[in-house]
Amino acid sequence: MQAKIPVDFVLRNIGQLLTMDPEDSLKIGLWENSALAVSDGRVVWVGHDSLLEVACALRPSTKIQSARGNVVTPGFVDSHTHPLFGATREEEFAQRAAGADYQEIAAAGGGILNSVRKTRAASNEVLFYNMKHHLSTMLSNGTTTVEVKSGYGLDLATEYRCLEIADAVAASIPQTIVPTFMGAHEVPEEFKGRPDDYIDYLIDEVNPKIKEQGIAEFVDIFCEKGVFTKQQALKYLKASAEQGFLLKIHADEFFDTDGAAVAVNTGAISADHLLSISDENIKLIANSKTIATLLPGTALFLKKPFPPGRKLLDAGASVALATDFNPGSCFCDSMPLMVNLAVCQCGFTVEEALVAATANGAAALGLDKRKGKLLPGFDADFVIWNCNDFRTIAYHLGNPDVAAVYCAARKVYST
Ligand code: NIG
Ligand code: FE
Repeated sequence: MQAKIPVDFVLRNIGQLLTMDPEDSLKIGLWENSALAVSDGRVVWVGHDSLLEVACALRPSTKIQSARGNVVTPGFVDSHTHPLFGATREEEFAQRAAGADYQEIAAAGGGILNSVRKTRAASNEVLFYNMKHHLSTMLSNGTTTVEVKSGYGLDLATEYRCLEIADAVAASIPQTIVPTFMGAHEVPEEFKGRPDDYIDYLIDEVNPKIKEQGIAEFVDIFCEKGVFTKQQALKYLKASAEQGFLLKIHADEFFDTDGAAVAVNTGAISADHLLSISDENIKLIANSKTIATLLPGTALFLKKPFPPGRKLLDAGASVALATDFNPGSCFCDSMPLMVNLAVCQCGFTVEEALVAATANGAAALGLDKRKGKLLPGFDADFVIWNCNDFRTIAYHLGNPDVAAVYCAARKVYST
């Protein structure tokens, strides 16, 4: 007889468990009447509740929790956010409501540069507590892993400071944080009209210091008409890869600048936004390892056309969903809303949207063996939902039914 698995935490009586195993039921690994067992913060067993004691050794010290017949999913993995900024930008939101366009506002010195001025002027305390507050709202929406970009400093001192703050916030919250250096978010005032010089400054002076600091795993660049060209993005990403960074790119958000091709040709882990991706590049990305990360909240917030989710999925692309949380183009921290938008506006099935918001988000952060699934070996980061049909997560618009959130099997939020 096989030795029983020692466990220190079990979640029993799960009405519907979504393991996100793509080989299993509905490609989301749907188990009814199931249980989940954990040792040392990692899942060690999942299966039918009636088999729990056959497979696992429960000790007097084992913590036993009931999901009361409810739905349990992996915590969301929000693989694209910008929560490090000095102040919010309600005035620009109101200007857009009155008819102004996001790019007109940016061209007039608002937009990202508006946040840069406020971020440079903000104290460490303000940046720390703002980021922490946004991360705690994300947690209440079921997000347990978050990618965090710098990019509102655009000079060495502020970018460095923002990444240190991200690291300090990470140590003070239960979620897992993945930091990204985004010095190439915009051309700062000091380099106005000289984007090539700024790219050289990033490559020669800033990137090496950020590498030495050791906090950021990824770099990202905004490849967009009026910001950085395809050639500048290629140059920056190639140099960054040589310096040991992993790559991401804001691609084809407003205009098709061939950004998705830059991602594929530089081996970027993800190309994000893609509202304006060409049909040709849909095929290209579908035949590559690069993940297409869609941010439908930004399309909603800026009144732009939604990204072509169905086309990407039908072409066979790996698609992730994220919020793009930021003070300008999407002040939204809710992954359940992204799941709804993917279904209602981008042609996803409910199952595809949930995979995109969990397992594929994890893959877009290089965490495909650790996050986004509830299978043996994965971190026990999960959400207990106040519902007994997993489709409610997409269906209940604007008010997530989160009952409790666990990180490494520790309850870190409950309603
Ligand atoms: O992802 N596209 C570039 N960056 C952000 C917008 C940032 C801002 O407006 O502050 C985005 O949409
Ligand atoms: Fe973004």
